[in-house]
Amino acid sequence: MAQTSLQDTTLRLGVNIDHVATVRNARGGQTPDPVRAAKLAEEAGADGITAHLREDRRHITDTDIDALMEALNVPLNFEMAATEEMQKIALRHKPHAVCIVPEKREERTTEGGLEVARDENKLAHFIAPLRDAGCRVSIFIAADQRQIEAAHRIGAEVIELHTGAYCDAHAEGDFAKRDAELAALREMSSFAHSLGLEVHAGHGLTYETVQPIAAFPEVRELNIGHFLIGEAIFRGLTPAIAEMRRLMDDARG
Ligand code: PXP
Repeated sequence: MAQTSLQDTTLRLGVNIDHVATVRNARGGQTPDPVRAAKLAEEAGADGITAHLREDRRHITDTDIDALMEALNVPLNFEMAATEEMQKIALRHKPHAVCIVPEKREERTTEGGLEVARDENKLAHFIAPLRDAGCRVSIFIAADQRQIEAAHRIGAEVIELHTGAYCDAHAEGDFAKRDAELAALREMSSFAHSLGLEVHAGHGLTYETVQPIAAFPEVRELNIGHFLIGEAIFRGLTPAIAEMRRLMDDARG
């Protein structure tokens, strides 16, 4: 979020507030307000707020993005698909960071990483104006060397590694698969760092799965949403975030 050098080893927590909007939209009213959740997350020690404006506006809306840009003191990481409409919105707001994610209408959440290698030219042209506008461009990708090399070639400054397969394998009790996914994430985080890319990670992280990822020395930011918003039902948002922060710091220490 704040501009940092590759030598800096602090680990930031970006709190994704999409699912506060999911609950609000289930009733179609004003509550719970994702901006209020973002402000609370900020007070609880989040280093940034992540929000995904989907093409179908199923959770975060354009009005939420306007309000977040106005209200936040920490950086906004604006997640979006590589579409002309989203590019226009990002260029209007110029958020601190733009994370490009793949998006399919029928999916429940972002299922895989972006296919960068196949669409290299198109993506290079797509991100150039965002970079020119001063946004840090991040690409959400699988732990795959080909994709990381392509992200580097198109001029991205940051990659966010998709931790979903690792977290799913843990939840399913398939520990051999989980450990293989973790090994790939570790290797690719080190590879991306060696190219000069800043490394972030996220998707599906929980109290049980966060520490092995937080322990990778190259990872500079974790973006976590669904689990934290769910956990907030039981213990409140501030303690839920504080516990995640504690686990991250422990793993780092
Ligand atoms: N990072 C990216 C790029 C995402 O798309 C998401 C999900 O919106 C997250 C992180 C957070 O994932 P989760 O909500 O499962 O913690």
